[in-house]
Amino acid sequence: RIPDPGIVVIFGASGDLTKRKLLPALFHLEQQGLLPAEFAIVGVARRDLRHEFAADMKDGILKFGGVKESDGGIDEFIDKVDYHAMNFDDDGGYTALKALLEKIDKERGTEGNRLFYLAVAPEYFSDIINRLGEHGMAHPEKGHARVIIEKPFGHDLESAKELNDEVNKVFDEEQIFRIDHYLGKETVQNVLVFRFANGIFEPIWNRNLIDHVQITAAESIGIEGRGPFYEKAGALRDVLQNHMMEVLSFVAMEPPVSFEASAVRSEKLKVWRAIKPISIDNTVRGQYALGTVDGQQVQGYREEDRVDPNSATETFGALKLEIENWRWAGVPFYLRAGKRLAKRVTEVMIQFRQPPQLLFDKPGSGPCNEIQPNVLVIRIQPDEGISLRFGAKVPGPETNVCPVVMDFQYATAFGVNQQNGYERLLLDAMLGDQTLFAHRDGVEATWALYTPVLEAWAKSKPRDFPNYTSGTWGPKAADGLIGRDGRRWHNS
Ligand code: BG6
Repeated sequence: RIPDPGIVVIFGASGDLTKRKLLPALFHLEQQGLLPAEFAIVGVARRDLRHEFAADMKDGILKFGGVKESDGGIDEFIDKVDYHAMNFDDDGGYTALKALLEKIDKERGTEGNRLFYLAVAPEYFSDIINRLGEHGMAHPEKGHARVIIEKPFGHDLESAKELNDEVNKVFDEEQIFRIDHYLGKETVQNVLVFRFANGIFEPIWNRNLIDHVQITAAESIGIEGRGPFYEKAGALRDVLQNHMMEVLSFVAMEPPVSFEASAVRSEKLKVWRAIKPISIDNTVRGQYALGTVDGQQVQGYREEDRVDPNSATETFGALKLEIENWRWAGVPFYLRAGKRLAKRVTEVMIQFRQPPQLLFDKPGSGPCNEIQPNVLVIRIQPDEGISLRFGAKVPGPETNVCPVVMDFQYATAFGVNQQNGYERLLLDAMLGDQTLFAHRDGVEATWALYTPVLEAWAKSKPRDFPNYTSGTWGPKAADGLIGRDGRRWHNS
């Protein structure tokens, strides 16, 4: 399906996101013939960039989009890009923006349809939204208006509710697209396909056969110069409360009645609402010290630019969650996310129960030291794929069992994918499909779970920070968290 004609208006267009992700994604859509012919992009930011903007965007597409000038079409695409400089609190700027959009409608046939993308710091969300409303751009007489909001949607439950109230005063929920780029990842969407497009997994996807689930989002990068942002965020707000909860909901939810927004969202919500309040004993936080990552010496978090030398911000978080419903009662979900860890890997690991009786030779008597349980690993990134570990007989006169792996790799099966996750989400927003976007109830449900943890952490400042060396798998206490249940992290 091709969206209706329209204009994508990006607030905060001089930031990294626009250049690295949004413009390359829009260009990929154009290359695939998925954009309407009557289409335009308007970048909005405070700086007076004029012609530089288009050149900068072209640069971004070439650098981050995995395309070459010789692929063609870039200049034609860049012709559709305009720039409008304004302060986000200046009414005159909105009047001029409205006039610019109407002019583009006339010249390019974009029919009054607008998709506003707020790629700005969260403190500007309310102001921009209110002024779009005041200037008649939220409910235009002709065409439709939609708004995409980038995370963070608040910094705790109360602020999330306030923000939702503010946004809902101006836009109806059907117009609001809260973006979590993890939902744009093919491998995250594939969790649902794996579960619900195949008949053989669902019958075993429950407490009867599953021992526990681990979800890891490990990054080898640090905070990449984002000191002021990260100081206020930390791993819990940055990744665990949103990206990881989205992944968890796909792993744990019941089959929805259809793949439509309301059906999918309501199943996700049921999962989040079934999670037991998180006991502080089931949480671990960490902060990286200097160390070596990929052979390079790197500085500790407290030495990063614009970070408090006594910072208590966590760059690592691990949690044990319990979902109290018929499917999952008694099956712990262990989550961990962190920066400057041993390697970049985001994956879901499902460990199955051992058979009730081990018939074959005792562990240690053959080449393998222990009989390993079956493990299914869904690799979100990199090396996207799915693998299943099972025991096999080692050739020879004895019956020794060793683990082997069946492996599916996206790159081998489908070729390398240059897309960055934003393609699908931008396209869906242009089509008005909210299935892969967060709903206000969901955002509030996940904040309701995490806010007490944040409050407890804020009350008792960590005394052992920094507590893990860059390039390792995080603080020792994280091993303790899972270890006291007789389990260990799967470090692929
Ligand atoms: C962002 C976080 O939302 O997600 C970053 O703000 C993090 O800190 C990033 O690095 C991870 O995304 P990806 O797609 O690289 O896994």
